[in-house]
Amino acid sequence: MEEVLLPVLTACGLPVRRSRIQLQRVVSRPRALSLWGLELDCHPFPHCIIRNFIQSDSFTENLQRELLDLNFHEKSNDLYKFNQSDDLKKRKEPHITGLRAGLFGRFRSWLGEVLGIELEPTVDISCAKYQYTDVLLCHDDELEGRRVAFILYLVPPWESSDGGTLDLFSTDDHFQPHSVVKSLVPSWNTLVLFEVSPISFHQVAEVLSEDKCRLSLSGWFHGPSLERPPRHIEPPFPRSPHLPRDETLLLEWLNPLYLDVDYQSQVQQEFEDSSEIQLKNFLKEEKFKEVSEALRSTDFQWTKQGPPNRRCYEVASLESFPQCVSACWELLCSEAFFLLLSNFTGLRLHYLSPSDEDREEEKDQEYEEEREATGSSGYTPSANKNNKGPSTPVCVGELRRWAHGDYTLLHDGDSSRAEYALDLLLTLSCPDWQTEFGGFTSYVANEEDEELLMVYPEENSLALVYRDKETLKFVKHINHRSSTLPIGDSCRRAVYDFSFVYYE
Ligand SMILES: *[C@@H]1O[C@H](CO)[C@@H](O)[C@H](O)[C@H]1NC(C)=O
Ligand SMILES: *[C@@H]1O[C@H](CO)[C@@H](O)[C@H](O)[C@H]1NC(C)=O
Repeated sequence: MEEVLLPVLTACGLPVRRSRIQLQRVVSRPRALSLWGLELDCHPFPHCIIRNFIQSDSFTENLQRELLDLNFHEKSNDLYKFNQSDDLKKRKEPHITGLRAGLFGRFRSWLGEVLGIELEPTVDISCAKYQYTDVLLCHDDELEGRRVAFILYLVPPWESSDGGTLDLFSTDDHFQPHSVVKSLVPSWNTLVLFEVSPISFHQVAEVLSEDKCRLSLSGWFHGPSLERPPRHIEPPFPRSPHLPRDETLLLEWLNPLYLDVDYQSQVQQEFEDSSEIQLKNFLKEEKFKEVSEALRSTDFQWTKQGPPNRRCYEVASLESFPQCVSACWELLCSEAFFLLLSNFTGLRLHYLSPSDEDREEEKDQEYEEEREATGSSGYTPSANKNNKGPSTPVCVGELRRWAHGDYTLLHDGDSSRAEYALDLLLTLSCPDWQTEFGGFTSYVANEEDEELLMVYPEENSLALVYRDKETLKFVKHINHRSSTLPIGDSCRRAVYDFSFVYYE
């Protein structure tokens, strides 16, 4: 392996060292630099592209063969969908072993010398296979010890129209990713390196080719981490108490079934057992049609939401709502609707809703027991609640449009701020939507990646989910399969929903 890498190293060694000096001058006036098939660029963050990395063609082909023979496992969560190989740290295949030794041996020493930092011998490498609709969304790679990321591509001839590009993001004043400013098209036997830092935001764009396989080896050289600026905390969305609107609004808008008191108590029983319920045909048919048509035909002002390491979808601005959509919005914020939700869920979303004395007592008892058990007064939520007296229930909502490429991600900051809440999702237009398109809401247990519940988009269906502090949610990336819906009526390729959250 030394022999294979050596020509590359000697070819790169000199120019890289020389260019580093030039690079410092380049930083203020960011420009790319290209020498001996090696490209260095500081924009949007330091990265380097080395073409024809392995000199021996037969070595590279054998390496590819060994990798394709490995077992692959499907990996899928909020951030990604792709297939990963068995751990490469222990594999004994000759070419995998050779590359591993070369990368984490001499190449690492050389790289450390070039960068002027001590890179540790820690071996951190895996093989990934991305095929049609696979993706890795925007993130910064930061994890204890990772200092330089590398990716070696073993792909067939590849065009940017095949997707699967390595996209690099610029960042804003809060060190949050802003937009893709550079896309690297993968190519056979090309190695890409970049510095892992608080601004190294990147993604693997969705693979759009239906038959090409994007095979790559990737990993990290470990070393002393860079200092991290404090995490940017997003200001919370303002929450509002209910609007003073009475029951006539419910009579006008809702399927009468849901106003039947007996049916409401059935719903409540089911909800209390499972903390979630799906109410089909929720709006009256004619109201549902009216709102759906308005959504498709009206010139709403849709605004893309970001930053891309957290979310990507569109929200309609309230001012642009036509009358019937405003009315539907008001319905969901109305006093009568807060009361209805109390009836459906047993939650206290209105001061008139029956207070559940038993439940409060239970909580207090739990609190006392906990105090005794831990011997501390560290557990305070219910104590706080008692001190504050009854709080005013509030809500926050959005009218959203989801289409190809949209998603939301879980975020490190989310778990610390998670609260008890009632999520409401009223899905309007999504004809012919299929599960395999993505776009479903997935609830997961905090820290554990364990899937608790999925809510699939379904027309005129109201989903209610009660979340505790251990539960987080994301909307799965909507992939290219959604584009197979009929062309012409672009609204058929989108999901529209009202998303509200209610707090007791
Ligand atoms: C990915 O892994 C899954 C599960 O092991 C397998 O069923 C699927 O065929 C794999 N896909 C590819 C492209 O290897
Ligand atoms: C809630 O239930 C109570 C009785 O249990 C009923 O009187 C009231 O009308 C219901 N509220 C709504 C908004 O349906």
